[in-house]
This record gives sequence, C-alpha cells and structure tokens, in this order.
Amino acid sequence: MTQRRPGVGPLLAPSILSADFARLGEAMKLVEEAGAGLIHVDVMDGHFVPNITIGVPVVASLRESTDMVLDVHLMIEEPGRWVDQFVQAGADMISVHAEAERHLHRTVERIRSLGARAGVAINPGTPVSVLDDLLPDLDHVLVMSVNPGFAAQKFLPHSKDKLTALRRTAEERGLDLALEVDGGVQLSNAAELVAAGADYLVAGSAVYGAADPAAAVQEFQAAMGRGVTP
Ligand code: DX5
Ligand code: ZN
Repeated sequence: MTQRRPGVGPLLAPSILSADFARLGEAMKLVEEAGAGLIHVDVMDGHFVPNITIGVPVVASLRESTDMVLDVHLMIEEPGRWVDQFVQAGADMISVHAEAERHLHRTVERIRSLGARAGVAINPGTPVSVLDDLLPDLDHVLVMSVNPGFAAQKFLPHSKDKLTALRRTAEERGLDLALEVDGGVQLSNAAELVAAGADYLVAGSAVYGAADPAAAVQEFQAAMGRGVTP
C-alpha cells in the first residue's frame, strides 16, 4: 500500500462522523470535489470513549472510494495492537491517544515503519508537556478541543493555547511538526486556529451538518486563507 501525503497546510479535514453512515461514499465525494484533501475518520471502541463507530473493514472500503488522504483518529484502548491493520486497510495518517497507549514511542515508530504518518492525540485534560520527549519522532500532534466521543460539542478555548505552545516549541526545536485540532471547529474560529498554528482543522458537524457541505468546505478554505482548489 502506497501512502498518500497531505499537502501543505492549512487544510480542512472533514470528519465523516457527522455524515450519513449509510452513504459514506457519497459523503466523501462531496467534500473531495469541493477541494478537501483530507478526510478524518473517527474510530471509537466503546472503552476509551463512550461511543462505538467503525473499524478496519470500513476504513478499507473508504480507501477504495476516495483519493483523499485518510486521516484515521483512533479513539481506542491499546491502539498499538491495531495500527498494522489500519495501515494495511489504507490509513495514510494515524493518530493514537497518549492516554490510551502505554508504549507510545514504540507505537509511533511502528506506524512510521509501516509507511504512514504518525501522530499523538491529547485530550483536553492532558498537558502538551507529555509529548516533550516524543515530538522529534512525530509527524503531527492532534489537539483535542472537546472531550472525545461525540460530534457537535463546544470548543474548549484553552486548546488554542496548546496549539500556540506546540507551534512555539516546534519552532524553537526546529521540528517539522504538523498540528491538528479536532472538536468544535467552526467557520467562526477557523481563522484564529490557523493563526495559532494549526495545519489541519477537523470539522464534522460544521461540514456535514450544513445544508450544503460542499459550500461549507469552500467557506472554510476561504476562512483559512487558502482559497478554493479548482
Ligand atoms: C470527536 C471526534 C471529532 C468529531 C468532531 O470525538 O474526534 O473528530 O467528529 O466533530 P465536530 O467538528 O462536530 O466537533
Ligand atoms: Zn476526530
């Protein structure tokens, strides 16, 4: 499996969590045609988070149905047990939670050795300092700006400070690190999140809950200062 690489940010990553699960192919096509380069896939196990969504077979089917970068967010316990299967299914980027994995370094190395981009996600209650030793080995950090498990929650403002701090640290340490923010992202806060240092903005309900998801993608891209991909 050859992995796709995300383009230069800032990029919008629509989350299919808010799409119609009976029509995921159509939902992806809509945002792909509107110019989204990434599609965010929320995998939940009912243990790490109080919700259950989709697993490896669905990711494999999504891979067959789109050329977008598959950005897989694993909200599951012991994700290291599963990363091989998700990469094999076609994940291009994988985020594992710091709170769910005892052997983060090993898991990150494993994801990268399989050819995918590796990131660590941190919950709102987890300080960025837990990543200090790991940052040079990461492709991205996913800052959760809601408590994970559900779409359409309210953005937690201190998440913006985490982005700012991580961006500053990455610059000081000369690291090529992408920053992703996930949860409560709206058209109204998109520009400030980019200004704080975010490269990838995940948006579920703000895209798929909109009357016209394709138009929402284009509005986001304009707000993020990237314009619309023809
Ligand atoms: C929440 C998920 C998010 C979710 C975001 O646990 O990780 O990716 O889809 O949904 P919105 O954008 O509606 O907050
Ligand atoms: Zn997510």
